[in-house]
Amino acid sequence: MDVQGLENEAQSAIAGASTLDELDGARVRYLGRKSALKKALREVRDPESGRVLNTLREALERAVEDKQTVLENAELHRRLVDEQADVTIPGERVLRGHYHLITQIRREVEDVFLGLGYRVVDGDEVEDTWHLFDALNMPPGHVTRSPLHTLFLNGDVVLRTETSASQIRVMESRPPPVYIVSLGRVYRRDTVDATHMPTFHQVEGLAVDRGITLADLKGTLLHLARALFGEQREVRFATDYFPFTEPSLQAAVSCFLCDGAGCPVCKHTGWIEMGGSGVVDPNVLRNVGYDSEEVSGFAFGLGLERIAMLRHGVPDMRMFWENDLRFLGQF
Ligand code: DAH
Repeated sequence: MDVQGLENEAQSAIAGASTLDELDGARVRYLGRKSALKKALREVRDPESGRVLNTLREALERAVEDKQTVLENAELHRRLVDEQADVTIPGERVLRGHYHLITQIRREVEDVFLGLGYRVVDGDEVEDTWHLFDALNMPPGHVTRSPLHTLFLNGDVVLRTETSASQIRVMESRPPPVYIVSLGRVYRRDTVDATHMPTFHQVEGLAVDRGITLADLKGTLLHLARALFGEQREVRFATDYFPFTEPSLQAAVSCFLCDGAGCPVCKHTGWIEMGGSGVVDPNVLRNVGYDSEEVSGFAFGLGLERIAMLRHGVPDMRMFWENDLRFLGQF
């Protein structure tokens, strides 16, 4: 048997295998049970040729093992390169939305009053003139009732100009005591400018119970002012006029920016107007069938856009509804 010739042939077949399959083919061919080498080993009769053939067998087995390691490493390397994930590539940003600033303020105000034991009630944006005007002590000739100010839909059906109609709806539907806030959109025939839009949002508050006084109104609005503008705030009241309150008061909060010293936000007065309020006019209580000798109440109405503009220094009311995400995304 040409041992040297067999070794050369087997070694070059092993070395030439470029895949694990090819290597296995070479192994079967030169080291398998039916290979010439194994056959020769079985027929060995003298120690010398047994030693030579076994040396060859060991050399070939080692060559197959070494080649196998080489091919496995190459395969591993290929997979590491092909299948690698670059964990340093920035992921795709998930855009998360959030509530519109006006909705945030609305919920904040709701939370303040829920904390005081008030109920939050929904009003309708479409109202009739009884609930919006007559019952609120506004006679037919009242200036707000002019189509120049109010959007009439049909006869006595109107888009509400204020959330105050909720007062009447609630009181008509249940006996006192009443502690409610009602927040939502209102409509006026206003020309658009930096501080006016034909639609905006208000919070209406109403408390009716035995022995309610102006002091309760003051304490309640002070609590709201501090919740919205900071614990250091004070409130003050000036007389005003609304048909449904007597006396009527304009509430102002000490400026949160200059703390009363005077600055552009408070127009150098140290005070910022919050909104209208007052003691519920006995006529209103009578209009809903309440006994005005038995119970009394206070009410107030504030603009939500105004609160947002003050708190965040928003210079123009139109920005809330232009839907520019560069603006809305800031809050
Ligand atoms: N409804 C008034 C407005 O839109 C605000 C207001 C004033 C509401 C006094 C009230 C109140 O409840 O008592 O200007």
